[in-house]
This record gives sequence, structure tokens and C-alpha cells, in this order.
Amino acid sequence: MILNTELEYKGNLFPSKIVFYKKHINVLYFKSENGAVLQLTIERDSVLRFRYSTTGMFDKDFSYAITIHASKGYNHLEISEDDEKYVITTSKLICHISKLDMRKSIFDVKDNSLICEDELGFHWEESYEIGGDIVKMSLKSQQGENYYGLGDKPVENNLKGKRFQNWVTDSYAYGRGTDPIYKAIPFYTAIHHDKSYGVFFDNTFRSYFDFCNERRNITSFWAQGGEMNYYFIYGPEMTEVVSNYTDLTGRPQHIPPMWALGFHQCKWSYYPESNVKEITSKFRELQIPCDAIYLDIDYMEGFRCFTWSEEYFPDPKRMVKELADDGFKTIVIIDPGIKIDNEYNVFKEGLEKDYFCKRADGPYMKGKVWPGECYFPDFTSPEVREWWSELFKELIEDIGVAGVWNDMNEPAVMDVPGKSFPDDVRHDYDGNPCSHRKAHNIYGMQMARATYHGLKKFSYPKRPFVITRAAYSGTQRYTSTWTGDNVATWDHLSIANQQAQRMCMSGFSFAGSDIGGFAEQPSGELFARWIQLGVFHPFCRVHSSGDHGEQEPWVFGKTVTDIVRKFIEIRYQLLPYLYTTFWRYADEGIPILKSLVLFDQEDPNTHFRNDEFIFGEKILVCPIIEANSKGRRMYIPRGKWYNFWDNSIVEGGEEVWVDADIDSLPIFVKEGAIIPKYPIQQYVGEKVIEQLELDVYYKLGKESSEVYEDAGDGYDYKKGRYSLRNFNQVGKENSLTIQQFKSGKFITSYNSFKINIHGLPFKIAKIEVDNEEIDISKINGVVTFEVTKEFRELYIIGK
Ligand code: GLC
Repeated sequence: MILNTELEYKGNLFPSKIVFYKKHINVLYFKSENGAVLQLTIERDSVLRFRYSTTGMFDKDFSYAITIHASKGYNHLEISEDDEKYVITTSKLICHISKLDMRKSIFDVKDNSLICEDELGFHWEESYEIGGDIVKMSLKSQQGENYYGLGDKPVENNLKGKRFQNWVTDSYAYGRGTDPIYKAIPFYTAIHHDKSYGVFFDNTFRSYFDFCNERRNITSFWAQGGEMNYYFIYGPEMTEVVSNYTDLTGRPQHIPPMWALGFHQCKWSYYPESNVKEITSKFRELQIPCDAIYLDIDYMEGFRCFTWSEEYFPDPKRMVKELADDGFKTIVIIDPGIKIDNEYNVFKEGLEKDYFCKRADGPYMKGKVWPGECYFPDFTSPEVREWWSELFKELIEDIGVAGVWNDMNEPAVMDVPGKSFPDDVRHDYDGNPCSHRKAHNIYGMQMARATYHGLKKFSYPKRPFVITRAAYSGTQRYTSTWTGDNVATWDHLSIANQQAQRMCMSGFSFAGSDIGGFAEQPSGELFARWIQLGVFHPFCRVHSSGDHGEQEPWVFGKTVTDIVRKFIEIRYQLLPYLYTTFWRYADEGIPILKSLVLFDQEDPNTHFRNDEFIFGEKILVCPIIEANSKGRRMYIPRGKWYNFWDNSIVEGGEEVWVDADIDSLPIFVKEGAIIPKYPIQQYVGEKVIEQLELDVYYKLGKESSEVYEDAGDGYDYKKGRYSLRNFNQVGKENSLTIQQFKSGKFITSYNSFKINIHGLPFKIAKIEVDNEEIDISKINGVVTFEVTKEFRELYIIGK
């Protein structure tokens, strides 16, 4: 009989009792009798890092996700021990480490309530075939615990009862529940007993999360290699958890240029030049605002990146300039696959410099993509990234392209079972050589990073704009993203809604879907409904594969064109509001869209809601996701809300029916909000803003709002040239006071505000602006009047 000795050793291994403890400043080491080590780092009072070694040795500490700017430091750290455990106390948390088995439990320091506890805790299986370990963690799920996050998973918000995999994958025409798809964001938030925490498992190998799917009360995560290395992030507010996660993994390095928040039109592909011009002219002719036009792969010569088809685009510089003169930014696609062609400069250079990925035993990694057989730059090498970023010089500096779209960067390889590189491909991994098993999930991120640095350099003094399909945690520092190749179906409209919300709560807010669907063609009704949702997504772009008919706003008939225009106009009016929200996100990591659970986690009704979301801080939106709808039922979160269309007030905390015929959408504004608006423009910068409109929604009580502005491009805002206005509204039964506090050195182009007051419950006797009465004889009906932008206090007194 032949005994398979390996099998005898298979199965889970566990740390045994702790025999050694050491502390070095904020890093604690616990060693078990069988050689496992837990390295526990107190990153901040509310952020603990757990890192385990099964051999007693740790690899070099390196992460693409964690930013060097992550905050460090804590207010309090105390460590004690008794017979059973070590007790680590910060100003936010208490963490117990059991001496018997290294398991941990974490409590809120304020009330000693249990937040998170290990079930089996850390355990592992030796990976005999490959080497290293399969590293695992299991936690007890607390009573009523729910889970959210994980990036682009196309499922309902609440992840409880489900299992997921993180492995970035090209997923043409994916559907509800397809897993994995394009992104790997191994970060989730959990909530129970009104308190929220998060887990970021910073391991780039193929990883899995199980939220009470395999076992009803257990949540676990594991990876096929690397270390058990995760961050425990405490709230107790879910927004704080997300914000702390983006503190670790980074926030956008700058606010996008304002035009990038406008409307974008894309198709696979607009060519030749005359077709591009036809499209852009039609936008202007029909007065549908649009800021960006995209060139998909057909602009290139035989799909060779950094080339132009001479036939279709004989003079790109002239074309880009003409488009720019008409208010259009040109954005071009760049994929990672470099065509094997000895006449092609980029290929020759890459080869000469030895920048392409290789298989384990030396041959190049050869794979088929749009241009045919390609080699692929190893973006995990800093030198290759530097080379790649330089390649953008001509496109950006000379031709004047304003943005770059990175696609197929999972990396996607055609006609192979895994749709990507085989596992044995080697990568530099910034001086930590490894196989594709480890580098796969970050390959696209590193490509987007290199692209971003190129654009940043060559767009200067303007801000760069990059969009990527593949992403790992941290990619939000460099680029925007979209949700890949969706389909023109009603279910996909609902999926797009979920994915945009999920990306936002996963720290990556600058996201949107292919509006209308990439594959197949939407009906006019579906397109209109998708636009209505899409204008409330941080990234707003129509894109389609183009082989199922056209997808421009005017191809579905006049009714749809008018609806599309109306909603895109709303987006353009709300630009200062969206820009302010973006600034908050870039500054503090506050998600741009807030699922209701993020908005009001103490209301348990919100834990299972999917459709409704808050756009920014004050606007509630709920898409219509079924055909032939005249409206829908939706949940209004607690508080009072104004119907955007007719100013009627609804009291939240329950589900209500809301009318929304095809030209409308359920939109509500939180009472007390002050919403800034620009005039409708056909593109950002078309008009000098001569007045800022402020829509004031009366509230009995207090509410504050803010408006952030700057030059809309460039970096002067980083030197204080921004304008931040904080408005405090105090409504009483017979008066309304608005105070303005202004900071920053930027001088806005307008001199006055047009103030529209909604829902004022009394007739006006007088209005004082900084103690001076203004003429109110012209105010009747709608309460609208002008005041100087410098005002400090506006006082409206009732009769
Ligand atoms: C991929 C992209 C899609 C693009 C197409 C051609 O399918 O996801 O957006 O249009 O490739 O470049």
C-alpha cells in the first residue's frame, strides 16, 4: 500500500497557547508554543492591525493598498494581563487576546459592549502544492449583524447569507450574482446593536468572504496565499468606518477637474473623425449638456496603444483642438496589451528594456487581446511604471487629450480558460518578486497608477482624469471607475444602482455604470430611467458596445430626448453641490452616495434597503427600476423631506408611494438644506457664473450646509485658493436666520446669491441682511430675492 504522507498533514492548524509577549512602542508581539506569531499594531485608537505568521517570521511589510499618508497615532494605550488574557485598551477600544489560543475579542471602551469576536480565529492550512499557507479567519456573527461593502459585487446591499470571491475578472455581460467581476476590494463593514466596524483584509491573493453562508452564525475570510493581515476599523458610525478605511487606503489625490463631473458620451467606437464631430455637434444643436467624448479602440492603428489610425483620424491634434473649442474634452482608451510587432515603437522599446511580463521559466507572457498576440508591461515594477507614464507625453501634452480610459487591465486575455495570465507569470511587485497569484489583483491598479502619473505630469497645470476598469483597494487615490460590461436590461439598471452605492461604501466613490447598458440595446423608456439614475452617480457616462444600435440621447425619439436633457440639466445645475460633496469625499473620505444604512444606521429599516440612496448629504433619490411605472413605493428615511418637484413635505420613517411618471423621478430634499445651483451650461466653463442660486428649504430647527468652490481645475486650491461657505439655518415659527461663514482665498466670479426659500410657513414682514432691511415689495408667491455673496446674517421675520 502506498501512503500519501502529505495528506496526513492536511487540515487546519491553529496557534497554541501564548508563551511569549513583547511590546515595541505601538506594536505587540504574541508568540504561541507552536511558533505562530500575532503582530498587533495599534494604528489609531479605532484602527488595529492584525498580522499573523505561521513560521515566526514575517515577509517584508509591503502593501499597494495602504497609503503613506495614513494617519498614525493614538491618544491612549494601556496593556495589562491576567491569567487568561492580555487586555489592550485605547481610547476607543478594548481588545482581549486569549492566552490559551490567541483568539481575540474587541469591545467598545465606552460601554464595554462586544463588537467583534473570533470563532476559530486565525488558522491555516499548509499549501503543499505551491508552498506557503492558505490563511483563514473566522469570526462569530453577533445577533442581528449585517454586512456591506466589497466593491462592485452585483448583489443587494446587505451581504448576509452570501459568499464572495475577490479575483479581478473580465466579465462581459455579467449578471446579478456573478462573482467575481472586475474589482477586488476586500473591505466590508458590519453593523449590529447600532454599532458599526469594518474589516480590511489586505491580502492580494485570491480571497474569499463568507457572511453566514456556510455556517449560520459565522463570518469568515481566507486567501490562497500570503499573510493573514487585516485591519479592524471601528466606527461606531458606519461613515466613520468608511472614512477611516480611506484614511488607510487613500483618498483621491486631488478633486477631479469640474468638467469630469459633467456628462460624458461614449461608444465602441466613434470613428472616423466626421462621426465624432457629428455626435458632438448634435449635442450642441439639441442643447444637451456634455463635457466629454470618448474614443474607443478603433482610433488606433491596428489597436496599437499610443498610435492613431491615419485613415480615421488624420490630424488628431487639430480635431482635439476643434472639439475643445466646442467645449468637449477628448478621452481615449489605452489597454495594457502591447501588440507583438517589431515595427512598433512601444513594443520595441518595451522589449529592449525588458519591461514585459515573463512566464516562470523565462518566455514572455504572450496573450491575445484586441490587437492579436500581445506582451504585457509589468506595471508592478517602478521602472516600468515610469516608462509607461512617459508614453503619455505626446497624447496629452502635444495632442491635447484630456483624459485616459484604462480598460482590459484585469489583465484580460482572450480565448484562455482563466481569461487572464496563468498563475506562474512573474512580477517585480516593487522589488518583492512574486507570481501572478499574488500580483493579479493589483495589476490593473498599478497600470492605472502609472497612467495617472503620466497624465498628472503632462496635464499640468491642469488636473488629470483617468478611468479604470480593474481595481484593488486604494485605486481610488488615482482614478475614477465604471462597472464594466453590463447589459441593457431593467435588472441591470437596478444592479447599477447597487454597484454605485456599494463602490461608495467601499471607499471608491468616483464610480458609475455604462448608462443604458453596454451589451444589447435599451428601450427608450429604460434609457430614460437609466439617465435619471445616472445623473446622480459620481461618474456619469453613456457607453455601449455599438453593435446593437445607437445609444445617444436623441435616438429614442423626442420624448426621451427631452427627458434626458431635463435630467442632465439638473446634474449641471447641481454641479456646485456635487463638487462640494466630492471635495468632502476627497478630504475626509465621506462617501458621495450614501446607502440608507450609511445615512441612518440606527433605523433598522435601513439595513435591508437597496434602492433609495442619499446623493451627497441632503438629496434623497430613488430610481424607477421597472417598466411602465407611474411611480413606486419607497422608504423615506427618518426626518422631514421636501418633494423636489412640488415642495410637498413628507415625514420619513415609513414606506410611501411616490408618483413618478416617465419624465419624473422620486427626489426629495432634506429639510433645512441649502442647495447651491449653477445656471444650466452646455459644458463646464461655458458661462461665467454670475450668480449662485441657493435653494433654502425651511426647517423648524437648525441645519447646516456648505458650498465648496475653487477654480474648477488646477492646483491652486491646495494653496488655499478655494471658497468654502458654511451656512447655518435656524428656523423658528415666525423667523428664519441664515448665517454664512466663509473661508478660503478664492474669489468667485459672481457677486450675489439668488435665494429661493421653499416651505416658509409665514408671510414675510421684513428681511434684514446684516442688519439692513432690503426691499421686499417685489416678493410675492415664490420667495426669491437677491443678496450680496458677502452677507454674514440674513434674517427673515414673519408678519
Ligand atoms: C471592453 C470594455 C468596453 C470597451 C470594449 C472595447 O469590453 O469593457 O467598455 O468598449 O472593451 O474597447
